Amino acid sequence: MKYIIYTKYNNYIFKSVLIFHTTVAENKCELTHKGGITRFPDGFAFGVGTSAYQIEGGWNADDKAPSAWDNYTHRHREAFLDWSTGDNAAESYYRFEQDLEALKKLKVNFYRFSISWTRVLPQLTTEFKNAKGIAYYNKVIDQLLANNITPLVTMFHFDMPDELYKYNAFLNSSIIDYFVMYADFLYATFGDRVKLWITHNEPLQFCTKGYVEANFPPLVHSPGVGHYICMDNMLRSHARAYRRYKEKYFSKQKGKVGITFDVRFFFKKYRETPDEAVERALQYELGWLAEPIYGKTGNYPSIMKSDIDNNSWKEGLSGSRLPIINNEWSQIIKGSADFMGLNYYQSAYVDMATNRPHEVPSIEYDSKIIFSRDEYWRRAKSGFLYCVPEGLENLLKWVRDRYDNVEVIITENGWSDDGQLDDSGRIDYLKAHLQAVLNAINDGCNVTHYTYWSFLDNFEWIMGYTEKFGLFYVNMSSVNKERVIKDSAKYYTKVIKNRRIVASNGGQQYCSNFVSVLLSVFVILNFYL
Ligand code: BGC
Repeated sequence: MKYIIYTKYNNYIFKSVLIFHTTVAENKCELTHKGGITRFPDGFAFGVGTSAYQIEGGWNADDKAPSAWDNYTHRHREAFLDWSTGDNAAESYYRFEQDLEALKKLKVNFYRFSISWTRVLPQLTTEFKNAKGIAYYNKVIDQLLANNITPLVTMFHFDMPDELYKYNAFLNSSIIDYFVMYADFLYATFGDRVKLWITHNEPLQFCTKGYVEANFPPLVHSPGVGHYICMDNMLRSHARAYRRYKEKYFSKQKGKVGITFDVRFFFKKYRETPDEAVERALQYELGWLAEPIYGKTGNYPSIMKSDIDNNSWKEGLSGSRLPIINNEWSQIIKGSADFMGLNYYQSAYVDMATNRPHEVPSIEYDSKIIFSRDEYWRRAKSGFLYCVPEGLENLLKWVRDRYDNVEVIITENGWSDDGQLDDSGRIDYLKAHLQAVLNAINDGCNVTHYTYWSFLDNFEWIMGYTEKFGLFYVNMSSVNKERVIKDSAKYYTKVIKNRRIVASNGGQQYCSNFVSVLLSVFVILNFYL
């Protein structure tokens, strides 16, 4: 903004020109380096992630049976923001060659993808093994390895076989046997080449959306009851699948098996908010399954046990709504992971609830905590997603202290927008979160992998194709669904090549600082000239 001011003094007229350098007040999405190394350690791996239903398409190709998501999208088009389905998505089932080219361009060290249960075992069990579906994943794995890209494979990423409905899905412990059978088949079929396995992706999201919010299959609303049983069966099926690997495959295959949790970090809402609120939130969100697997007791967090046991008793029940982990199970569950997978997107403020505004029973009622957001956090296209990189740094430190510095693989971290190729918002987010990882490493955290979510624009569950997380734009209207590189992909490749956080213009970080100093000098001079 420029103002010209005329002042009259003793018959002289003075002309002053005032130039104001105005910056739009923008919510920041950055984090500073807090000392220590600026280069990621040797061996630290950079990758990208996807999941089968979100990118593959070919929903009924080559004997694939429908998953619960195929049927849900077909029967309830209205539940999806753009009335879309994952029937075709990015067509990765037919276009892995294009995916591979893009992965090579990115120069990633690993690729996280998931296997669709109903593509390889369409009848749920190993009675019928679908050769064509298996051939697809063999091709993916072999071609990745031939190009020096390590496969990181998720066994179950939300796309539950529809057949499981017959057995009451995750409300019935028979899921444990089915899941172990499926995991065993995966180890036997692909384990000679796949050395990094994730059993379940985000049990908390799966069970909350599927058994409370009822907007993911199996569309059940059972807060405080079905919700907890689902989490319990996720935990036990994971632990048994892990044990199966150790007993039957590890000596030969020498791989690692873990599980992936979605988790936020929490900040106190007010200065007066008790520290307990933060601890409770972390225990209810991450500790719920992390404590039994990585903690000392092989059991649910004591805070959850006492809250839920007491409430169950008050509700007139003779037993707790939180399933009981007996000694035998405790032995199976405790230590049942070689690493912890973390999906971090954002953080929240917490406070203790002062009254009882919630549905009974429910997790809100049991946990007695309430969440809120900060209006100053920068928001992505997705309503749930805010840029809070310091949350990731704090979370990694919390995990370091709480779980004996277990190896952490960041299995997801990403930003959504409209799909523009000049996606500077995504670059800011990526840069800030990589800085959080580096700060945590400098503070002794055992983080070994970072996965940007997502490799490609994909089917974003109930949001359909309205929100894009990809480093590559997928041109859905072109015949070959061409993958178009975005600025963020170019940026990520520079980071991977340099193994350090570079400025978004491609120089080292200090260059951008230098440019900022120059700009400020220019602005100051303007005031005087
Ligand atoms: C899921 C992904 C999803 C991403 C962004 C995660 O909860 O694992 O499938 O696309 O969040 O919403």
